[in-house]
Formats: sequence, structure tokens, C-alpha cells
Amino acid sequence: MFPHRRTHDCGALRREHIGANVVLNGWVHSRRDHGGVIFVDLRDRWGLTQVVFNPAHDAKAHRLAEALRPEDIVAVRGAVRHRGQGLENPKLATGAVEVMVESAELLTKGRTPPFEIDESANVGEDLRLKYRYLDRRRPNLQRALIFRHKLNILARNYFDSLGFVEIETPILTKSTPEGARDYLVPSRIHPGCFFALPQSPQLFKQLSQVAGFDRYFQIARCFRDEDLRADRQPEFTQWDVEMSFITQDEIIEVIEGLMKRIMKEMKGIDVPTPFPRMTYHEAMDRFGHDAPDLRFSCEHRDLTAVFANTGFSAFKSAIDAGGVVRAMRVEKGEPLSRKELDEFTAYVGQFGAKGLAWLKFRPTEVFSPIAKFFKAEEIEAVRAATGAEVGDLVVFVADQKETARVALHELRKLLGKKLGLAKPDAFNFSWIVDFPCFFFNKEENRWETYHHPFTSPRVSDFPLLDTAPEKITAQAYDLVLNGSEIGGGSIRIHNQGIQSKVFELLGIGPDAAKQKFGFLLDALQFGAPPHGGIALGVDRICMLLQGLDSIRDVIAFPKTARAQDLMCDAPNTVEERQLKELSIRVVSG
Ligand code: AMO
Ligand code: AMP
Repeated sequence: MFPHRRTHDCGALRREHIGANVVLNGWVHSRRDHGGVIFVDLRDRWGLTQVVFNPAHDAKAHRLAEALRPEDIVAVRGAVRHRGQGLENPKLATGAVEVMVESAELLTKGRTPPFEIDESANVGEDLRLKYRYLDRRRPNLQRALIFRHKLNILARNYFDSLGFVEIETPILTKSTPEGARDYLVPSRIHPGCFFALPQSPQLFKQLSQVAGFDRYFQIARCFRDEDLRADRQPEFTQWDVEMSFITQDEIIEVIEGLMKRIMKEMKGIDVPTPFPRMTYHEAMDRFGHDAPDLRFSCEHRDLTAVFANTGFSAFKSAIDAGGVVRAMRVEKGEPLSRKELDEFTAYVGQFGAKGLAWLKFRPTEVFSPIAKFFKAEEIEAVRAATGAEVGDLVVFVADQKETARVALHELRKLLGKKLGLAKPDAFNFSWIVDFPCFFFNKEENRWETYHHPFTSPRVSDFPLLDTAPEKITAQAYDLVLNGSEIGGGSIRIHNQGIQSKVFELLGIGPDAAKQKFGFLLDALQFGAPPHGGIALGVDRICMLLQGLDSIRDVIAFPKTARAQDLMCDAPNTVEERQLKELSIRVVSG
């Protein structure tokens, strides 16, 4: 009987194994027939090893090798030998050696895969997702998921070392408002009633504080039915944290310690702590966004006052309509071509901007087709406000404040990539603090929260709940890495009266509050400690640290941008009988 049991994995053999008899099991990665002698690269998740079938050595094994195709699985036994002078492959960890096959057995015949199992093969994502188990044979995806595993182990050990207790919270639960739609699960036993999948364990971690479990931690799965993007999935993972008798600074310090250790152990990089902090308002003024990429400058400036009496009609009409003129200095942007500037103009148009004005700062002039409309003192004011120097470009959007802000923010992101301003190997962490607590949604004529309704206003701002909610600062903080929000948290309301007041402001009257959050309001009356916490987006962190563009690349079985699992074809219809049991009738269309 063939001894199937492997002695080594496919990434293990080195020079010191020369002469040893070994058994390898693995997938046929590639097969090359060199006029009689057949070379096969055998693959498993540890690596590749070259194995050699020589008809002179073992005719039976050689016959088997003749029929081998990529992705067949074989077991081979043989002796390890040196590849021969000049034949070594320095790119492969096992590249010095090969296995001279003495006997071989086909363990599984593999169908020809729909794409090559190779890191560099360019394969459409839909096909990759349909055959995700084949996609995941590729080394880049294997690396990404092993990285994620190590990251999770590191985080768990870190929190454990600081006395955190990992507590699992329910998946079948009641809706908690994190700003997205809920995924609902119908109850069979209670017809017409639904569980909601948790958008986060927010209330359960707070209730764990009421239960006395100071220092809670969980690697938690969250579910949100929202519009998906490259950095959003309908189900994603958080490192979820909550602490009692704690301040914002202490929570920030715990998380900085975690990120510092991650950067050191996973990337070999010493990141200095404390991370810089910026208020929400400063971030919005300087970068037009609450998660700015601080790897490069390109700051926004509001130049509305400079152009108050401008002769340039596009600016004038925007200002007259209550809008602003916002500018951004692009360092060394002067050489950008007319074509590129036209492309940028079209790009900001996607975000609602009516145009993109620009000035090029040249040694002898300030150049632009619209320069003639600008007074000398306006140009000087632009220079002074933006810090533009010779060789720079300044771009302008004149519009309503929000449109101008968004358009320039999007352009800034594009320039960061296109002009190489955002160095891919730089990691820039920062905290955004002092968020507003509430904003007024004009379309729906109601107050909404920036974070969630359990975030505590600054204590000194409590009286503003009755008078000017828009002026309230939240005790909330976001962690930003390279322009992505990788975490967010807050000090919570632990006083039942304040919590009820916030619900009321949000249009959740006493009866609705009791029905939706009665358990929380009850708990807050039974001695709730002051508490606070944070949740970190594991998928995003994992993606960013590996320099990947999509969180799908760090998730074993992700969903598409249309929230589908193409491999198992979910969501799907179910049998009539199942619907009946759930007292559900589907109204199509
Ligand atoms: P928040 O909603 O800010 O806070 O979520 C925390 C972090 O989770 C990540 N994240 C996501 N990642 C992938 N796909 C998504 N759809 C997605 N949504 C969010 C982000 C984000 O910063 N309960 C609060 C935390 C708290 O207050 O403690 C919460 O969930 O990186
Ligand atoms: P126009 O006057 O429409 O021919 O535009 C002249 C230049 O000003 C073009 O480069 C436009 O892209 C730019 N422009 C037009 N409207 C705006 C605006 N609202 N904000 C910034 N630039 C604008």
C-alpha cells in the first residue's frame, strides 16, 4: 500500500534534506515534459516543490505523470536531491532541491479549473467569487487570510493581557440603530415577529458594563444592509471593546497600544504614539472630510471672502447664491496638462461641481484661461491663503458649501493616487475628536445623530439638549488610517434621564423608546457605571495594512457589491412550505 501520509509539506524542503526519503501530498501546480523527464511543481498552502518523474527511474510513476493535469492531487515518494549547478530557483524557498519520484499515486483527479491558479493571472472578480475555493488556492489570497488570522490572534492576546474578557453576544437579536437597514429574520414560533441581525453589539456591550463586566472585548460579526463600496460589506468584523470608569483618553491609549503592537509585529514598523488628534471641524475645514488622508498635504481653503467682489461670474454667482469658493493647493501640480485638468473637471462634475477653475503658478506669471478675470490682489490673496509657490497648481470649486467640500475631497483622493502623493508604504494614524452630536436632516425634518443615540454629549453641553442640539459636542472619536475610518467609539450615556431625552430629540417618544429600548432604559436605572468604548473595523485594517484595494480580498467568502454570494447563490428563493411555516407571503414585483 502506498504510504499516503506526507512527511513534509510542499514548502519545507531545503538543502539539509538532501538524501532524505520523503512523501509529499499536493496539487499539481504545473507540469513540464522535457522529452521524457517530467517536472511537476507540487503545491499546498505552504509552498511549491519541484518533483521529477524519470521513466528510467520508475516507469509506472512516469506513466502516471504523463496523464497529470493542473489541480490533480497526488502523493509522491522519493529522495530529495540537489537540483544541479545553475538550476536552482532562488525565487522559491524550496528552490535548491527537488524530489526524485520513486512511486506516485493519484489521490484525486481535478477538473480543469475555469482560471489558472496563479497569483498573477488576471481573472474577473465575478468568476473568482463563483469559484472562491479555487481563487483561495492562489498564494496572494492565502497570504491575506493568514495575515488576518495573525492579526486576530494578536488582538485577542493584547486585550487578554490587559484584563479584557471576551464575551459573545447574540446574532438573533433586536434592531440596534447604527444608521443602516437591518437584516431581519422571521420567527416561526411568533408569526409576524422578526429578529434583527446586530448592526453591532453596541447595546449588549453596554449591558455587559451594567453587569459588571468592566473590560469587555469581542471579535464580533456585524450585519448592515447598506449600499456597498470597496470598503464595506454587508457582514463584517469588529474588534469590539467596552470599559467602565474610563475616560476618552484612556480608551484612546489602549487602542494606540494595540495599533503600535500590530504595526511592529505585522509590518516591522515603529509608529510613534500618541497619534495626532484633530477636531472634526478642523478636519472638515482643512480636508473637507472627517477621515482625511494625512499622508499628504493638498489642504482646502475657503476663499469666499477673497472673491466677495470678483469679476469672475462663476464665482460670483455661486457666492450670490449663498455658496462658497473653496480652493486647494496641489504642490508641484503646475506641469499637469490641459487634458488632465479637463479630466479632473469632469471628475468633480460627478460629485455635483459645476466646474473646476485653476491657476498655475509659473516663474513669470500666474497662468489660467480665466486669469484675466482675476484682480492682482485676488491672486495675491490666493497665494497667501494657500501657500502656493512657483511650480504649484491651485484648483477652485465655487458652489454650495457641501458640494464644494465633497468635490474637492474626492479630487484630493484622486490626486493622492494619481500623482503618487499618498505613498503606499506610509501608514498615517490619526484621531478625529469633538464630533458634533446631532445634525438636522432637512429632508426628513428631524434630528439625527452622527454616531449612534447612546453617545454621550459633553457633560457641560447637556443643557443644550433643550435649546441648541446642533451646538452639542459628542464625546466621540474616530480612528483614521490613510484616509479610512478604521474605528469609532464614544463615552456613553449612563443616565436614564439623559438617554430618554436624547431619544425624544430623535423623535423616539416615551412609548416608542420603551418598546424599542425599554431593556436599556431599565438597565440604566439599576446602577450603570460610567462607561465607553470603541469598535475597530478588522476587514479594513487588514486590507490597509496589506496595501489591498478591496475588503473582499481579506474575507474568505465575501459578497459582491450587490450583496450576493455568487458561490452558493445567496440570497435565493425558498420553498413555499418554509414561507408558510413563517407565516410569510411574498408579494412579487
Ligand atoms: P461604527 O459604525 O463606526 O461603530 O463601526 C466601527 C467600525 O467598523 C467598520 N465598519 C465596516 N467595515 C466594513 N463594512 C462595513 N459595512 C462597515 N461598517 C463599519 C469601520 C468603522 O469605523 N457600535 C459602534 C462602535 C462603538 O461606539 O463602540 C459602531 O459599530 O471601520
Ligand atoms: P465657463 O465660464 O463656464 O466657461 O468656465 C470657465 C472655467 O471656470 C472652466 O475651467 C470651468 O471649469 C470653471 N468653472 C465654471 N464653473 C465653476 C464653478 N462653479 N466652480 C469652479 N470652477 C468653475
